[in-house]
Amino acid sequence: MSGTKTSNIRDPRGSASTQARTPRWQELARLKRETHFFDAVIDEIDGRMIRIGEHWLADFASCNYLGFDLDPEIMASPAEQIARWGTHPSWSRLLGNPRLYPEIEERLTELLGAPDTLVLPTITTIHLTVIPVLAQCDMAGRYSAGGTVLCEAQAHRTIFDGCSVAKGQGAQLHRWHADDLDQLRDLLRRAAPDKPRLVCMDGINSMTGNPPDLPRIADLCREEGATLYVDDAHGFGVIGERGENETSPFGLRGNSVVRHLGESYDGVILIGGFSKAYSSLLAFMALPTETKELVKFAAAPYLYSGPVPTASLATVLAGFDVNEARGEAIRADLYRKTKRVLDEIRALKLDCPNTSGFPVIELPLKDASDIDEVARILWDRGIYVTLAAYPLVPRDQAGFRVQVTASNTDAEIDRLNQTLRELSPYLRTW
Ligand SMILES: Cc1ncc(COP(=O)(O)O)c(C=O)c1O
Repeated sequence: MSGTKTSNIRDPRGSASTQARTPRWQELARLKRETHFFDAVIDEIDGRMIRIGEHWLADFASCNYLGFDLDPEIMASPAEQIARWGTHPSWSRLLGNPRLYPEIEERLTELLGAPDTLVLPTITTIHLTVIPVLAQCDMAGRYSAGGTVLCEAQAHRTIFDGCSVAKGQGAQLHRWHADDLDQLRDLLRRAAPDKPRLVCMDGINSMTGNPPDLPRIADLCREEGATLYVDDAHGFGVIGERGENETSPFGLRGNSVVRHLGESYDGVILIGGFSKAYSSLLAFMALPTETKELVKFAAAPYLYSGPVPTASLATVLAGFDVNEARGEAIRADLYRKTKRVLDEIRALKLDCPNTSGFPVIELPLKDASDIDEVARILWDRGIYVTLAAYPLVPRDQAGFRVQVTASNTDAEIDRLNQTLRELSPYLRTW
């Protein structure tokens, strides 16, 4: 499940034994057998409609927020670059970078208004390999083993995994809660001041769709001399800098949470990716140039990983063009469509954590044991969502998550809203 949080997947280390886990895995196997929402094979797509076997459903489970996966200009872009570069530039980035790489990094640095950027294949790769480096080196690359990583309690599972690797390499690891900054201050003060301290958290939260209190957290990190490491996988492409000409509260340019909240990159490393709003495969870090040089040579992927295929580099560049030419209109449309769903949810008085208008909409069930019946209704009405079922989430958080994209049609939104009305007796209300 793409946006699953560490807090939502019960940490396997918490179980006493494999035996204790077995009933949970059996429940997962049962869900796979009896609902249609796990390990589905999609046979065909038509716009945002998907066919699974003989059944057509409106897809509200993809993270292609801007609809770039279906944009004719972007779809046409790989052919020309493949004719020029072949299908795959199979050097590690250390050995050779097709010119597409510096072009992407230059355009991305300008878009984000960041000091510099480094692109690597995926965010997961970045977390697993870069967090351990930043736990033993400061941003200027001075090595000092035994630093501290402070992972926010709701941080994405892949961040937590990166922090765990850092711990395995000698770092101290602590959790903190975004709504308790005194706790964060306390942990920062108790960590060795002469060693690196890295505070890790999500930007737009992948379950609630809400942003963090970045200005206060960034200020606290600066006061305490710590580095803030923010994963805005979902926000990049959708939210951006605020301005008079903005077409929606998402802001302008889709240049991510730091710019959206009027923050600076001072002491902040931003992580993002192209695999959601940009419908491509590539991830980035926004960081000072000296930290970029450190990461290039101290973390494995720049040196040793194979690069992403040419088609991904081409669709990233075409995505920048479309974002420049039509991004504001697309975001306005995405905002309007998301609002139609959120308005329905409010009219039905459904409990929903989303207060931002972001196209990630989580709907918890009153009773987790209704999940099969809810899945059946969704399937029968032709609505495909991310099912948040136990054991993927704790029982009290069972429900489903809807993601709206700009390429969902209004007819699909009508169908979703109609289904939400039917499902409302099963959903938590306020
Ligand atoms: C917040 C967050 N971080 C990281 C990832 C993983 O990104 P990638 O596929 O680039 O490894 C996801 C994917 O769902 C995510 O939601």
